[in-house]
Amino acid sequence: MKEYTFEDYKELFEEHLMDFIPDVDHKSITLYDSMKYSLSSGGKRIRPILLLAACDFCGGKVEEALPYACAIEYIHTYSLIHDDLPCMDNDELRRGRPTNHIVYGEAMATLAGDGLQSAAFEAMNRDMLLYFDDPDALKRRIRASYEICKGSGCRGIVAGQVADMEAENKSSSKEMLDYIHLTKTAALIVAAVRAGAQLGNPDNELLENLTVYAENLGLAFQICDDILDVEGSEEEMGKKAGMDSVNKKATYPGLYGLEESKKRLNNLTDTAVDALSQYYDNAEVFTRLAKDLAVRGK
Ligand code: IPE
Ligand code: IPE
Ligand code: MG
Ligand code: MG
Ligand code: MG
Repeated sequence: MKEYTFEDYKELFEEHLMDFIPDVDHKSITLYDSMKYSLSSGGKRIRPILLLAACDFCGGKVEEALPYACAIEYIHTYSLIHDDLPCMDNDELRRGRPTNHIVYGEAMATLAGDGLQSAAFEAMNRDMLLYFDDPDALKRRIRASYEICKGSGCRGIVAGQVADMEAENKSSSKEMLDYIHLTKTAALIVAAVRAGAQLGNPDNELLENLTVYAENLGLAFQICDDILDVEGSEEEMGKKAGMDSVNKKATYPGLYGLEESKKRLNNLTDTAVDALSQYYDNAEVFTRLAKDLAVRGK
């Protein structure tokens, strides 16, 4: 059995990144170009790496998880393209390059996002069609796909983005802020981990521990993003700093201050790591990712 490292998952994923982008008619080639532009601009690939690692951790075959890993990165990338639109966060830099709408225009950026989202569901469904003769394998794939649908939909990213937009220019409660962060960001991170796990064969306890890890990591992830918006640099992030205060967003530093936000980031990281402590070094990929995140937000 091959022992995968964090870098191995990333390399494998990058090799297959474009595999599930459908061929488009040359008459709509701009759609393909604009989707590819945002997808291949880099990005940390945290969600697909988590998905592949969780599949591996739960005894699944990593290569078989690739359609789902691509699906989650396509959904994440669509959410970034739409998030950057002038009608949302109005950002001009993403992953170190001009945002999609700056290059292709707002209409095309909206459609590139739509195309990426449907490509994600096409990738997963095409894979499921291959397993009609193997009900157990099919069941695992349906479960994985369901996690991804849930995390990206009206109780996940979309709900969070609605709450995020409605919270602009006003003071939000702590409860509301957590709701925003848990839905707009943590939900897809939870989906990545749980979908990957479902592609293996986790027992209830393992699935529960991975879920606790992912929920805490997911919230920590958005808090870190909020902190970096205040303290990080454009070079480091590949996006403009200070945009949350320009847009008067509900953020952790805004509501709790920087010091308290960093404390919360560290506590959540500890809770995430603790959830997997009984698996010792076998959970290295997960614990390293959480600890590296906490260092980024320091
Ligand atoms: C950015 O996500 C949006 C948030 C949910 C904070 P990432 O920080 O994972 O962005 P990329 O994929 O590395 O560009
Ligand atoms: C984005 O949150 C969450 C998404 C669902 C895309 P932000 O608006 O804070 O993400 P960045 O800072 O633009 O990457
Ligand atoms: Mg936003
Ligand atoms: Mg934004
Ligand atoms: Mg942000």
